[in-house]
Amino acid sequence: MWKPPERIKYIATSGQWPTAAQAAASTLFSPLHSGPLQLQQRTWVPAMVPWRASDDGFVTEDVMQWYERFARGKPGAIVIEATGIRDVPSGPLLRIGHDRFIPGLQELVERVRNASDGETRLLIQLIDFLGIRRRPAADKYFQRFMPVTDELRAALGGGELTEQQIRDHMASLPAEQVQALLPEREYESLTMGYRERVTDTHLDHIRQLPQILPELFASAAQRAQQAGFDGVELHYAHAYTMASFLSATNTRRDGYGGSRGNRIRLPLAVYKHVRQRVGTHYPVGCRFLSDECVDGGSEVADAMYFGQRLAQAGMDFLSLSRGGKFDDAKQPKVGEAAYPYTGRSGYECMPHHISDQQGPFGRNVAPVTQIRQAIRDAGLQTPVVVAGGIHNFEQAEQILQSEQADIVGLARQALADPDWFSKVKSGNGREVRLCEYSNYCEGLDQKHKQVTCKLWDRIDRDQPGVALSKDGKRRLVAPY
Ligand SMILES: Cc1cc2nc3c(=O)[nH]c(=O)nc-3n(C[C@H](O)[C@H](O)[C@H](O)COP(=O)(O)O)c2cc1C
Ligand code: SF4
Repeated sequence: MWKPPERIKYIATSGQWPTAAQAAASTLFSPLHSGPLQLQQRTWVPAMVPWRASDDGFVTEDVMQWYERFARGKPGAIVIEATGIRDVPSGPLLRIGHDRFIPGLQELVERVRNASDGETRLLIQLIDFLGIRRRPAADKYFQRFMPVTDELRAALGGGELTEQQIRDHMASLPAEQVQALLPEREYESLTMGYRERVTDTHLDHIRQLPQILPELFASAAQRAQQAGFDGVELHYAHAYTMASFLSATNTRRDGYGGSRGNRIRLPLAVYKHVRQRVGTHYPVGCRFLSDECVDGGSEVADAMYFGQRLAQAGMDFLSLSRGGKFDDAKQPKVGEAAYPYTGRSGYECMPHHISDQQGPFGRNVAPVTQIRQAIRDAGLQTPVVVAGGIHNFEQAEQILQSEQADIVGLARQALADPDWFSKVKSGNGREVRLCEYSNYCEGLDQKHKQVTCKLWDRIDRDQPGVALSKDGKRRLVAPY
């Protein structure tokens, strides 16, 4: 992962933990009643993909145990990982693109509900993403994938060359000459791996996204409702399809790109369709970016506008993340796919403990405050969720008391210690295992390996009933 050049090291601190009485009187542990969104406390575990679904997208026993463990800590809400809305093979990513996925999801809901004694609301994050391929070996690219176009033939000096001669010649050239000869996107396919964009409107399935996605999201949301989830979070963040429509880099010319008003059209149309399908009493919100944190990307001013429009449309909550884009991702190794959390924008999404003057804790709070204020200025009370480096009570409580957000998300801190919520609420905050923000978990995510935390995955591995990772080296669920 990219790290700021300043390389200042930070350590998460416990701050002052509250007594049980102080916790009971706090804003953090007070309920939130906002339309259909009803939380017993203002804590939230944002979506985290743990790579435990089956290869065909079904809930497994490991998925259930993973979320049960979070539920035992009794946070206000848990958002189940990004779950694919299409009925297409997507590897071990959870899916909700067909009714056959409903029974497994239903059981997951029941297990979480039991584990939290009904105290935790369970939402599911609905995602659509575009095609991406692994970086090819150079010879494979030149021999198999590179299109031999008339332009390339002309640039190489003529029509006499056979296709095979062109392929062989290109393969023999130094990188700078290859870069000069290939169109930008082809050079990207060679050096990063082929990746689709929402602006690839010459491709039918990309051009038709505005016609296709509302129905796909609405059907997925309906299945989530049937499975018993307490709400859905539409994934409009990071490197995926909906975020790409919102992005300032979206230059589509069909009315869905260009101006902010055009870029928000599809996200609003998807929301409208979802709302029609699930009714007015079912919590529907979205996650989007306070800032894309890439050159030429959307910034806070865009997010303030989007926040107002999404709130006006009737979203029940707005959860803000930041960064996590392909635009500045590092070059993957041959045979691996680009990962949108390897550049500066990735750092902003999951800040590491080696940081800059600002540090990794609460980098998203200031922009979220601006976005929330813009929503309030528009006369709307939609609750706003903030996340990013939040790990102690004082920090979380201060964010709420100073009205910078309405709900506090703890992702990696909840992974490090799923009992954070119950420990802090009961006055036992000193027992919390604090996240080190080392991003060991994120490294596992990058390799699509079962995600665990370095603070607990080697503890008591030989105890009966402890489920282990595929390599047998790590426990899959945090100990008590
Ligand atoms: C292993 C892992 C998987 C993640 N998967 C998702 C995801 O599926 N959807 C999402 O919106 N964010 C995802 N995130 C980002 C987190 O939800 C969160 O925004 C980020 O970690 C910053 O919050 P934190 O500092 O509290 O961890 C993931 C993060 C991690 C560490
Ligand atoms: S591995 Fe554990 S300690 Fe390290 S960043 Fe992830 S959750 Fe925090």
